[in-house]
Amino acid sequence: MRRIISSFLLAVLVLSAVSTAFAQTTPKVTVIKAGRMIDTVNGRVLTNQTIVVEGERIKAVGANLPVPAGATVIDLSNATVVPGLIDTHVHLTGDPSDSAGYYDDIFRKSFVDSAITCHIYAKRTLDAGFTTVRNVGAEGFVDVALRNAINDGKIPGPRMQVATYYIGSTGSHGDLNGFSPWLSDRMPPEMSGVADGPDALRKKVRYLIKYGADVIKFGASAGVLSEEASVGAPQFTQEEMNAIVDEARLHGLKACAHAHGTEAIKMAIKAGVASVEHGSLIDDEGIRMMKERGTYLSADIYNDDYILSEYAKMGYPDKIIDKEKQVGRLQRENFQKAVTAGVRATYGTDAGVYPHGWNGKQFFYMVKYGLTPMQAIQAATVNGADLLGWSENIGSITAGKYADLIAVEGDPLQDVRLFENVRFVMKGGEVYKNQMAK
Ligand code: ARG
Repeated sequence: MRRIISSFLLAVLVLSAVSTAFAQTTPKVTVIKAGRMIDTVNGRVLTNQTIVVEGERIKAVGANLPVPAGATVIDLSNATVVPGLIDTHVHLTGDPSDSAGYYDDIFRKSFVDSAITCHIYAKRTLDAGFTTVRNVGAEGFVDVALRNAINDGKIPGPRMQVATYYIGSTGSHGDLNGFSPWLSDRMPPEMSGVADGPDALRKKVRYLIKYGADVIKFGASAGVLSEEASVGAPQFTQEEMNAIVDEARLHGLKACAHAHGTEAIKMAIKAGVASVEHGSLIDDEGIRMMKERGTYLSADIYNDDYILSEYAKMGYPDKIIDKEKQVGRLQRENFQKAVTAGVRATYGTDAGVYPHGWNGKQFFYMVKYGLTPMQAIQAATVNGADLLGWSENIGSITAGKYADLIAVEGDPLQDVRLFENVRFVMKGGEVYKNQMAK
């Protein structure tokens, strides 16, 4: 009798173990009925598509596919479904709403403050329909911690590729300028992106990779939101830029360069960057070089509006506002020249300089300055995925890729401003926002 009871107990145990294992391994199935769907690979619109999502990935896509038994159906038949958007230039560790004024921020805050608040901006970004971002500069490895917490499912946010520190030369856009030497060097050298000379730069790249960098970002030229006099002068030698890009390459990483200035843009392209950030003062030769080498342009052409309307109020000095006036309009015109000539663009906004969650505002400018609405959508999907080296996983609604999907109400090809009001967000098969529900 004891034997019978114990074998009965064993059977129950085995059965319950099997059913738990089954419950754990049977992925959730969701079916999305898309009235309109953007095929970003071929640049066309498909109608009445069924998207079958199993677990975190897309299982099948097609017209009127059968709905698997037990699937949850989401009706987006009145919407346009688009792959989750990709912003290739953000700084999730800062937001203008954190700012107590330029000088206050510099001297009274540190990366610990941003570590406390950055999850708010990650969520706003995701809610805005941006399911993937490339974070191109942060202090204290806060971006690594944020990326990891999102990947662990602890907090909602976009998939992230992170650069950790912006690498810059002494006195560059990546350094602190305009103050007494007694005030300027606040950090031990390890906790800074400042380095000079090929050897030190190689060491810096190794150090950033050691602590979590997925991509390397450096400052090829001067910038706007810093106190050095120039906006576009080169801030590394050709040799230094070559060393940075080459060291990243040895580790299998891509590099990108902050570059406003004409000469610095060309030096960075020669060094082999995967993307030029800003690209404000690019000339015909730079455009030709980018086309030849397939270098992406990640230009923040909405930014100017926000800086000119808000940054003086935030206490930024006149010389910075004047620098913005020097490049803002030219950047837009040169963006138009470059993309019209065939340079491939990604969608890079510099969100963080302006409020996170407003990422979608740049669509309007990308269309005003040279792209068709479809090309702007491709910039924010397939091109971004290619730049990140993640084409197999994101950028289109294709079987096998992550189920990163968003929806807008209406036709974004008629009105790209609809991307300022994304109504549905799914990332990795999980619904984070649904304002389309009836
Ligand atoms: N982070 C950039 C810089 O300080 C922002 C440039 C913004 N201006 C512009 N026109 N895109 O240089």
